[in-house]
Amino acid sequence: MTSIQSTTTAPSDISAGEASSRSGFSSRMGFVMAAAGSAVGLGNIWGFPTQAAQNGGAAFLLVYLIMVVVLAYPMLVAELTIGRLAKKNPIAALSSLSEKPLWRKSGILAGIAGITTLSLILSFYAIIAGWLIAFMIEPLARMAGMPEVADWLINFSTARNMTMMAVFILLTTYIVKNGVSNGIEAWSKKLMPMLFILLIALAGYIVTLPGAEVGLKMYLVPDFSRILEPSLLVSAMGQAFFSLSIGTCAIMAYGSYLSEKENLPKTAGIVATLDTSVAVLAGLLILPAMTVAQANGVAIYGNDGTLLSSDTLVFTVLPALFNNMGSIGSIVAVAFFALMTIAALTSSISMLEAPVNTACEYLDQPRPKMALVTGSIIALISAIIILNFGELFGFVITLTTVYAQPILAMAFGLLLTWVLHRDRLLKELKKGHPELEQGLFWKIWPWYVKFICPVMMLMVFI
Ligand code: TRP
Repeated sequence: MTSIQSTTTAPSDISAGEASSRSGFSSRMGFVMAAAGSAVGLGNIWGFPTQAAQNGGAAFLLVYLIMVVVLAYPMLVAELTIGRLAKKNPIAALSSLSEKPLWRKSGILAGIAGITTLSLILSFYAIIAGWLIAFMIEPLARMAGMPEVADWLINFSTARNMTMMAVFILLTTYIVKNGVSNGIEAWSKKLMPMLFILLIALAGYIVTLPGAEVGLKMYLVPDFSRILEPSLLVSAMGQAFFSLSIGTCAIMAYGSYLSEKENLPKTAGIVATLDTSVAVLAGLLILPAMTVAQANGVAIYGNDGTLLSSDTLVFTVLPALFNNMGSIGSIVAVAFFALMTIAALTSSISMLEAPVNTACEYLDQPRPKMALVTGSIIALISAIIILNFGELFGFVITLTTVYAQPILAMAFGLLLTWVLHRDRLLKELKKGHPELEQGLFWKIWPWYVKFICPVMMLMVFI
């Protein structure tokens, strides 16, 4: 046995230089809720089910599960480990893996690229989340006898997009400004159970409606002829990386607040399992909802016979279904969009945290001020995207999620396994898991991240 016991300090660890001002998650439960909150988002509740529907139902589910296990999970452990090892903001963490100037500079570069990607992801995520809030309030406005307001909320306009995006960024900034345990952790612990309950209640209700069987079949009966299509592999990989929030420093920042008592591979396993379960569960809500809508006369296939794209699905098909449902429809609509808004909010706080933390530590400024400044910069980027919607919206999404995320995830994994000394890696992973060396994880994972992951990712890309 090594010195593990002596290092099992409180979350606000003092071994990290400037760490006196650095608080952390107060419990394992708090961390798991926050990290699962980051992972569970629009990617799960909307991205995953629609991708599954378009790509052979359960066949996609199978490939997705394989991608999570063989690529995303190992990278998740890598990112969390870098964060906890350094207990610093992501840029400082990545540059602290080696003493050599070249590697330090590479680390700084990877960190800056990660924070930039993350800020761009938040700037498009906030636009979509703004729509969700608008659709959540719309039925309420109609019930309150304000039809003009209700129409304004659901019709695409620059004013609507700007206003709702700003509301969402304000909410996110408010939570992040209050710090890790009082803001992020407290809110994740409140919002995540609400999300689970809403999701189960909605899925339970939708599957009882006529037409739901068709959607369930589409989702659960695999079409194996699709499984070898290269586009399916790329979609499944992108979906897995996006869903686990890896490749952008968000999870690294959360890792830097994780107590040394925690077993990293196991904690990452819990987060990945929760995230995947929510995605699978969301499939049981969205796909039956689509075919229920179809049974009610709403079109869900375009002229070319393919499924309507995912944004049309959420903002046209489902509202049409809720309208058809009579008086209960308004309640279901509010509940559904509340579910989506909550999922988006627990994800967006994880996106804002890394840039805010970096700004606080480099500029030595108080958190509330930096939260406000960073939030404003991101709102400004969102505004630019809104004003050039046709050119920028899709472009930013593809650039960040299809290219930047997998490439950066790989860069972090390579920095951790090639640049960091193996003994330091082992020492870090043994904290919270003293028997690590005897287990299968340590025999496989380091060389796996070092050699196999990069090769597999290159193969998927090519
Ligand atoms: N994982 C979230 C989702 O599924 C989105 C998300 C949160 C994210 N933090 C991230 C994506 C960081 C990329 C990077 O919706």
